[in-house]
This record gives sequence, C-alpha cells and structure tokens, in this order.
Amino acid sequence: MELNESQKLSSQREALFDAAIKHALYNNVLKTNGHIVFGRGSDNAKILFVGEAPGFSENENGKPFVGRSGKLLEEWVKELGLQSADYAVMNVVPIIPLGEEGKIRPPTPEEINYFLPITMKMVKAINPEVIVLLGKSAARGFGKESMHTGETTEFEGKKMFFIYHPAYYLRNGRKGLEDLTNLKKLLQKENQQKQQTKLGSF
Ligand code: URA
Repeated sequence: MELNESQKLSSQREALFDAAIKHALYNNVLKTNGHIVFGRGSDNAKILFVGEAPGFSENENGKPFVGRSGKLLEEWVKELGLQSADYAVMNVVPIIPLGEEGKIRPPTPEEINYFLPITMKMVKAINPEVIVLLGKSAARGFGKESMHTGETTEFEGKKMFFIYHPAYYLRNGRKGLEDLTNLKKLLQKENQQKQQTKLGSF
C-alpha cells in the first residue's frame, strides 16, 4: 500500500501534519502555495531511503524526491534491482526550507530535531530491513554525522547505509553508482539469509 494512503501510517501522517503546521517553516508552504511532504512508496518497504527536506518540485507535488535528485535516486533503485513494493522514500524535514530571497537552504539541526520523534515513529511503522541515509541531514537525524559514503552501520538492530545526497552527485556530474557497491552486497546478503531461513523451515 502506498504510504500516503496506508492505514498503518495514518497516525504518523496526522502527527506529522499537526506538527508541521505549528512550525515556522509552515510559512514557506503558505507563501509558495506548496505542500507538507509526507513519504512515497510501499508501507511494507524492505529498504527505506531517508533524505533531507523537499525541494521546489517536491513542494509543488507533495511527494519526496520527484525532481532531479529523485530521478537519480530512481536510477539507484534500478541499479539495486528493487521493485516498487520493495522501497519507500521520506525526508527528515517535511517542509521546504527557504532562506534569504526565497533560496533553498539545508534544514537546521533545530528543524531536524523538531520532527525527529515523528520521523522515528514513521521508521518504526514501516519497519524496513535496511535504512539508507541520503546525505548529512539524514545522517544527523540518526546520530550518524561522521559516516562516509558507502559505509554501513547499524541502527536499533537494523542495517544502515550512508551515501552522499543525490544532489551532491548531480553537482559533481556523477551518478554515484560505484558508491552503491556495499549496499548491493548488503541486500544480497539479506536475500541469501532469507532464502536459507525459508529452506531451513522445510
Ligand atoms: N532532496 C531531498 O533531500 N529530499 C527531497 O525530497 C528532494 C530533494
């Protein structure tokens, strides 16, 4: 079931919107006639991609990663061999952060922390096998600020992988496919383990 329609996530969705309209960032939604952005993808995702905050395309569409960064993310998804039922996408901040002159800026630690309790509830409700942190803001939310691209770690018993934000690769004219190697290995291992458990139960 798609995250936006999922019963399983309805209380988190409500809590996120409630919190969002109370935050100063909500002025950006009003000013731009934009959206509070929840998530997209499967509510039963095995892989959860966590990004930073909506950009202009996401603010307009109401879904995360639907602009240029989203296009690159979809290339990564293909490279990893994932089907749409396998993954979901969300951000640590659900509102576009705008600075002086209406320019987009990274969310502040205060903004990330404000939404953190709901971010964590969303992660718990989706309950993925692997969390993929896309860039520093996502890593900050999960207390993993010093990770390097391609690095794996654990978070509350789940596998976690860090990669630079797709926008970073776009800025540098790269696709970053080579940085997905450890994630590919991790997913293969998870699949093998599942196969073995299946076989073991016969
Ligand atoms: N960058 C992000 O971190 N999230 C989005 O949804 C879009 C761009």
